[in-house]
Amino acid sequence: MPDVRIFPDLEGASQEAARLFAAAASEAIADHYRFSVALSGGPTPRRLYQLLAAEPYRSQLPWGQIHFFWGDERYVPANHAESNYRMAKEALLDHISIPVDNIHPMPTDAPEIEQAARVHSAELQIFFDGDICFDLALMGIGDDGHTASLFADDPALTVRDKPVAVARPTSQPTDRLTLTYPIFNRTRRVLFLVSGQEKALVVARVLAGDAAYPCTGIQPTGELIWLLDQAAAASLGEV
Ligand code: 6PG
Repeated sequence: MPDVRIFPDLEGASQEAARLFAAAASEAIADHYRFSVALSGGPTPRRLYQLLAAEPYRSQLPWGQIHFFWGDERYVPANHAESNYRMAKEALLDHISIPVDNIHPMPTDAPEIEQAARVHSAELQIFFDGDICFDLALMGIGDDGHTASLFADDPALTVRDKPVAVARPTSQPTDRLTLTYPIFNRTRRVLFLVSGQEKALVVARVLAGDAAYPCTGIQPTGELIWLLDQAAAASLGEV
């Protein structure tokens, strides 16, 4: 059973996520001199990113040894309103002193999305010297049970031989790039941050092991922690 922590509201859950981020960074840097994190998109993590961009984390964290990646990205320009990179840039990256080489967005400017997937796969292989293993993946869950851009009935779910896959979810306005299950499940620590009553039922079903939801397939060999606000935790134990 994963470690499930419940907070009165998203602020409390985000504060805990920031604390865990800092602890994971400290542990990773002490062990192998750098900290690699795959960020999640959507609106929920914005507050977490703002907390990391503010004191005490802004001046405390060794940003020069921290590397930002993304768990998934919408295939839109980097300055597009839907871009996960843009959201993290506005909430966090523009407010900290971090080398540009430490920021590794998924490319969304190739003529073909399949080419972008190949390019980013190669970038990951080079960065991790052929053994892709993130220190931390921040993740969310959609009310349909997707996570990152792993959506039900999408071929990206079945990719096992590539680190980055193309997702074409029919429920979404754009194609997407996503890290694949093998990559998420090799991550040292996975942190879900979930807020809102509309997520309560799917969270309860995923935590009960319902394989109908893509999120249930995130079973990392490392640590798995769920940070929920009370609204998102409301149906736990009821399914
Ligand atoms: C994305 C995200 C996605 C997100 C969920 C939940 O690109 O949309 O990576 O997987 O985590 O859609 O988003 P919210 O928690 O903000 O609703």
